[in-house]
Amino acid sequence: MNQRSQVYVTRLIPEAGLAMIRDRCDARLWEHELPPPKEVILEQVSDCEGLLCLLSDDVDGEVMDAGDLRVISQFAVGVDNIDLEAATQRGIPVGHTPGVLTDATADLTFALIMAAARRIPEAVDKVRSDEWRTWEPRGLLGADVWRATLGIVGLGRIGTAVARRARGFQMEILYNDPERSMEVEEELDATYRSLEALLELADFVTIHTPLVDETRHLIDRAALRRMKPTAVLVNAARGEIVDTEALLEALEKGWIARAALDVTDPEPLPADHPLVGMEHCIVVPHIGSATTTARTRMAEMAAENLLAGLVGQTLPYCANPQVYEAGTR
Ligand code: DGY
Repeated sequence: MNQRSQVYVTRLIPEAGLAMIRDRCDARLWEHELPPPKEVILEQVSDCEGLLCLLSDDVDGEVMDAGDLRVISQFAVGVDNIDLEAATQRGIPVGHTPGVLTDATADLTFALIMAAARRIPEAVDKVRSDEWRTWEPRGLLGADVWRATLGIVGLGRIGTAVARRARGFQMEILYNDPERSMEVEEELDATYRSLEALLELADFVTIHTPLVDETRHLIDRAALRRMKPTAVLVNAARGEIVDTEALLEALEKGWIARAALDVTDPEPLPADHPLVGMEHCIVVPHIGSATTTARTRMAEMAAENLLAGLVGQTLPYCANPQVYEAGTR
């Protein structure tokens, strides 16, 4: 980088990453709470070599063609908001932040499992609304997590980290994934099942697949109908993996007992959406990676990717490595 590159950063990310970027580039920043409108991104990238974006920004071929981008750096591990194929075709490497949010997201998943099983939000509401009168032998009865059966859909980094936590609760671990992992089966005593069998057997079904064409609405009406009426569905991956209308029907009709969602479709879910008002549904605002450590490291990794891409180096954490194989970079 002889002269300072122009880059556009679509939100205030943690200072650790911003400082690295400002040190080496002229960075323009969208400082508002809500994502920049598409027109703003199109205008801003027109004279930029680098774009640092978030999962709420739609980064398609139009954005890529609006400027002369050398790199796109996503502040997240999931890149379903970015047209990866279009980036690869244009020779633009896309960076992301794998690994550093695995444990934070697995912790949150476990928090959702526990909160749904033991009805924590309802219990808190009861105290807040001054309805706690006495110790109730039949009040707020929940489900056991200890030794229950956990069905993990998608045994990647986060799914495996959830399985590791489940061992501590002596849960029976079932999983489904396009690839079997003998290592995880051995280490964590996890059993591979077809998706159908997993849905039928699990007390808790937790989703950890990426959002791709094959997983959009993977949990649809038919899938929900297979689950136990006592089961809990947890989603800390991407909202569109679950068919929202089907989930609503499943909860209303008692096909499943509860749901706990860190991600929704649409996202954000409006406060007057029926799922938000349901006692047996917990919705939190996509906070899986929201620990200081994880978000700081994500910012540093996003900056490392951006800076590497600007000087034509291979991105340390690249979501479309084919871009290098294709020889377009
Ligand atoms: C991701 O990184 O993809 C999460 O959804 C947000 O941290």
